[in-house]
Amino acid sequence: MEQTFIMIKPDGVQRGLVGEIIGRFEKKGFTLKGLKFITVDRAFAERHYADLSAKPFFNGLVEYIISGPIVAMVWEGKNVVTTGRKIIGATNPADSAPGTIRGDYAIDIGRNVIHGSDAVESARKEIALWFPEGIAEWSSSLN
Ligand code: CMP
Repeated sequence: MEQTFIMIKPDGVQRGLVGEIIGRFEKKGFTLKGLKFITVDRAFAERHYADLSAKPFFNGLVEYIISGPIVAMVWEGKNVVTTGRKIIGATNPADSAPGTIRGDYAIDIGRNVIHGSDAVESARKEIALWFPEGIAEWSSSLN
């Protein structure tokens, strides 16, 4: 079954959006497979965003991600990578539709509340980085 990596960024945690965001993924029908409440250091944040290291906003992005605790999650379900990105909305909140997480809760691309893997392959890499101990298997008795 497809999995994706979802991170509630420090602004999402500080603004009290954790329950709201988790609720949106749960109510859609996806299954929570892993969750960590952690603060990461600079080296780890730079690894997560290594593909963006040449971007002018890279240092600011890393500062933002290490500025406070984040919620790192693995969600599972049919087409969860693509559908998860739809639930999250466009990267720039100016372009994200109302009804999406960023469309409802963000106005600034530099404080856009949440991250979701952009492809199945990047999800695999991000899950391996954030959950190197692996993801425990479980099945919901509701399904
Ligand atoms: P995310 O989905 O985590 O993927 C990369 C992140 O880089 C993105 O969300 C934003 O937080 C950040 N980002 C992308 N473009 C810009 C930009 N122009 N200025 C500041 N931050 C950006």
